[in-house]
Amino acid sequence: MSQSSSSKLRFPKVAGYQLVKRIGGGGFSTVYRAVNFDEHRVAACKMVTLTLETTKQARKTLDREIRVHSALKHENVLEFITAICVEPDEDLPYYPGLYMLLELAAGGDLFDKIAPDVGVGEEIAHYYFTQLVDGLTYIHEQGVCHRDLKPENLLLDAAGTLKICDFGLCSVYRLKGTNKTRRLCELCGSLPYVAPEMSQTVPYAAEPVDVWGCGIILFTMLAGNTPWDEPTKKSYEYSQYLHGLCFDADPWTRFDRGVLSLITGMLAVEPTERMTLAEVAAHPWMIQPSQLVHKGPATLAAHLTASLRESGDLDIADPNLESVDRDGDLVMGQNAHASQFTQSLQLFSQTQAGTRYTPVLTRFYAAIDPLILLPLIQDALTELKVKWKPAVAVDLNSGDDGETNNGDGDKFKEKLIRMRIGGYDRRRLLFKGWVELEHFTYNGTEGTFCVMQRDQGNPISWRQLWKSVIMSPGVEPYVLRKRAYKKE
Ligand SMILES: Nc1ncnc2c1ncn2[C@@H]1O[C@H](COP(=O)(O)OP(=O)(O)O)[C@@H](O)[C@H]1O
Ligand SMILES: [Mg+2]
Repeated sequence: MSQSSSSKLRFPKVAGYQLVKRIGGGGFSTVYRAVNFDEHRVAACKMVTLTLETTKQARKTLDREIRVHSALKHENVLEFITAICVEPDEDLPYYPGLYMLLELAAGGDLFDKIAPDVGVGEEIAHYYFTQLVDGLTYIHEQGVCHRDLKPENLLLDAAGTLKICDFGLCSVYRLKGTNKTRRLCELCGSLPYVAPEMSQTVPYAAEPVDVWGCGIILFTMLAGNTPWDEPTKKSYEYSQYLHGLCFDADPWTRFDRGVLSLITGMLAVEPTERMTLAEVAAHPWMIQPSQLVHKGPATLAAHLTASLRESGDLDIADPNLESVDRDGDLVMGQNAHASQFTQSLQLFSQTQAGTRYTPVLTRFYAAIDPLILLPLIQDALTELKVKWKPAVAVDLNSGDDGETNNGDGDKFKEKLIRMRIGGYDRRRLLFKGWVELEHFTYNGTEGTFCVMQRDQGNPISWRQLWKSVIMSPGVEPYVLRKRAYKKE
């Protein structure tokens, strides 16, 4: 497709929903917030580009994702609403691709709220891990294996309920109504989360690989980091685990005996010795009553973000500039975002245009102009060995979220500055995302509202990068913190 014809293309409406803002992406997709303006409803739309070169195999995989995901209905599985396809050889004014309309996870990523190397307390880990096991038990009952359980595929809805998403790597291993299971052979997933048997060439049993994924997730919730780079002898930490030498060291020493036996049961190297999901669900740590279940959404949000509060990270993401009435009198066009849970999580922020819904907590306010802050952030990124592309100006009023190339500084004034960045985290996993800078004036304070939005990669690593940027010597002096704004 030529540049001139592609520039005329737009997004189709999907079941009455218009794609309005990019909110995430993965290895293969871009995810947008989608709004049905007639019905005042919001959703998410996952878009995968199709070209004339898209292989049959890739299409088969996408078909499977749609077929399987659309059949799954459970409280802890992200709801699939519908899908449409725009073929690349159709003569339509739309970007060719598969558009999957999904329930919006308005609470953002679960792991975006977890402080690196600190993790969450056992209570909140128990609360969410139980939901993960419930959702996965249902998925397995349908004969489906997820195969890509990892932090970035666990989202929260507006009420703070866990939603398993991304069935891009799933597989049907048991046909409904039969007891016949088949072994799987495709090697997939990313190394820190995959089960050891998946790196061998023999077919593997389906259910145990998801149980392993659950073990990695529970560990990551409690420790704020994954246990190893990869489950092979190449990894020092994994070798220490194999030889039982890790248990005297942090973070393993932090785990109580009950939860430790559950984690090691799920991370049994031999799949036949690994706990089954039913055994996980029946483990004493799992069946203990939860104190959180009966408490309200505000308490839930406070518990979830306790580690961010203690480190002061939340005061930076939300330095009390907002005009939101704490009792909930929030003026919002799209009410589906606003719940007591999302408000307590501080997912709304004050910008030039008013109160904006920003599901990511990796953001900050700085007391200087965007054009002065930009080079300071670029220096910090270079120092951190993170690659960045030249910044572009995005017209806030164009509605299509399109990017226009910058020329002079003036253009930035009315617009948002966006810069794509990417690199590798300490587990050698690729991350990508962007930094957005927007000018703000509020109650006599002027400066920049900066959002760091992750596209791909581990949310905890992304949070670590955010922390490094705001703590860098160039940026740190200008970061606005809550203390300065406390009313007497
Ligand atoms: N329904 C949704 N609501 C909010 N954010 C979403 C939703 N679906 C996906 N995302 C965001 O987009 C990212 C990529 O979506 P995912 O389905 O995992 O795509 P991929 O197959 O490309 O990994 C997720 O990690 C999440 O941050
Ligand atoms: Mg994903």
